[in-house]
Amino acid sequence: MTASIQMYCGLKKLLVISLLFINIYSTDGLEWNYNDFGPDMWSETYPACAGKSQSPIIIKTACTTYRTFVPFRFSSDYNLTYNFTLLNNGHTMVSTYNSNGSTPFTLSGGGLNGTFQFLNFHVHWGENSKSGSEHQVNNVKYTGEIHLVHQNSETGQIAVLGIFMNSSQNSSDEIGNTANATIKEWVKFFTTAVELGKVNESTELSLNLATLMGNNLNNFWRYGGSLTTPPCTEDVVWTVFKVPIVVSEDEIDSFRKDIFSENDRSPQPLYNRIVYRNFLNETLSPIPDYNCCSDTSNNAGNKIILSKPIKYYLLYFLLLFFF
Ligand SMILES: *[C@@H]1O[C@H](CO)[C@@H](O)[C@H](O)[C@H]1NC(C)=O
Ligand SMILES: *[C@@H]1O[C@H](CO)[C@@H](O)[C@H](O)[C@H]1NC(C)=O
Ligand SMILES: *[C@@H]1O[C@H](CO)[C@@H](O)[C@H](O)[C@H]1NC(C)=O
Ligand SMILES: *[C@@H]1O[C@H](CO)[C@@H](O)[C@H](O)[C@H]1NC(C)=O
Ligand SMILES: *[C@@H]1O[C@H](CO)[C@@H](O)[C@H](O)[C@H]1NC(C)=O
Ligand SMILES: *[C@@H]1O[C@H](CO)[C@@H](O)[C@H](O)[C@H]1NC(C)=O
Ligand SMILES: *[C@@H]1O[C@H](CO)[C@@H](O)[C@H](O)[C@H]1NC(C)=O
Ligand SMILES: *[C@@H]1O[C@H](CO)[C@@H](O)[C@H](O)[C@H]1NC(C)=O
Ligand SMILES: *[C@@H]1O[C@H](CO)[C@@H](O)[C@H](O)[C@H]1NC(C)=O
Repeated sequence: MTASIQMYCGLKKLLVISLLFINIYSTDGLEWNYNDFGPDMWSETYPACAGKSQSPIIIKTACTTYRTFVPFRFSSDYNLTYNFTLLNNGHTMVSTYNSNGSTPFTLSGGGLNGTFQFLNFHVHWGENSKSGSEHQVNNVKYTGEIHLVHQNSETGQIAVLGIFMNSSQNSSDEIGNTANATIKEWVKFFTTAVELGKVNESTELSLNLATLMGNNLNNFWRYGGSLTTPPCTEDVVWTVFKVPIVVSEDEIDSFRKDIFSENDRSPQPLYNRIVYRNFLNETLSPIPDYNCCSDTSNNAGNKIILSKPIKYYLLYFLLLFFF
């Protein structure tokens, strides 16, 4: 009797979790990965992956446009401890909360259209400490990137909050494990998650989402993009926070060794999208980007800068005309 109830609850839980994944991790039975059917191949099976609004992108800070957004509003439950299911789904380590129908985590404000519900958070990492993030800032990659995936249940639109992870060679204790709640919470996550070495292994872990996100959520970049994994669905609202979370290199390395070596998609062309920033006084890239704007402009501007040869041709024709 008890056994069958447990089994029923187990199956139901699995069903709820599977339903939550359908939007994000539907593979139509065809496997994709980061090697023999890696990112360059995805569009063969998932045409949207070759779209014109794909993610991630390289954020060129000198080319961003300043814009104000109302503050994000996180429901109070983000700052409470809940049991999350951590799952190695073969592509990443994904954490979901079995909400049994109604999620306590709702997000609005921040320029988002409506109310979004938390679906999962997962991590992207790379082969070494100088790679792993999917977004890049002025061509610089971070060691990792956390994605908190949300969805508007009315419109179906997805909004992802991206937080960079920068690794330190110091141990977690040295970088503030004992004093800093965020670092401590990530140590807890990594220590438990690294045990899930086999695909489909999962476990439960109590976590506080607000603590994981840290206290540097004021400055961010905003643009319209896509899921960074198949089916690469577009119309995703991206928020990429400027300040990274610092984690110990040992922890990310345990993922490389015991989970898989990398799961980061390369940056995709920006085409004619605008990247907004919600903070003033952007530190400009040390390398002026003549493709996008002048080195002194603090706003987006597609100023046409004549290259040297064109200038010389113009001069040549002027000289011809006048003499
Ligand atoms: C979360 O709650 C703690 C107190 O329990 C408080 O100190 C902290 O500022 C809260 N954090 C956020 C992001 O609201
Ligand atoms: C959370 O998970 C732990 C470990 O599996 C379990 O002992 C605990 O009862 C769970 N708590 C809740 C509120 O479900
Ligand atoms: C889920 O909700 C159903 C009713 O909607 C309830 O019977 C069940 O006990 C709930 N399960 C959990 C784990 O909260
Ligand atoms: C916001 O969502 C509503 C549907 O709830 C839609 O009608 C409207 O066009 C959306 N606005 C923007 C700016 O996307
Ligand atoms: C990232 O970490 C490296 C090494 O610890 C450090 O040199 C660099 O300044 C950090 N970058 C940021 C943006 O915090
Ligand atoms: C790393 O540890 C050393 C020695 O404990 C300390 O001096 C240094 O400030 C630490 N660096 C960081 C980024 O935590
Ligand atoms: C993992 O679970 C999925 C769905 O339940 C299944 O299709 C897949 O074959 C499993 N993979 C492995 C390696 O067990
Ligand atoms: C704790 O560490 C995080 C991650 O590196 C950092 O963003 C945050 O500012 C630190 N918090 C405090 C109170 O020092
Ligand atoms: C931005 O820079 C200007 C001029 O240097 C300065 O007056 C202003 O206080 C700065 N604003 C912020 C938010 O740092």
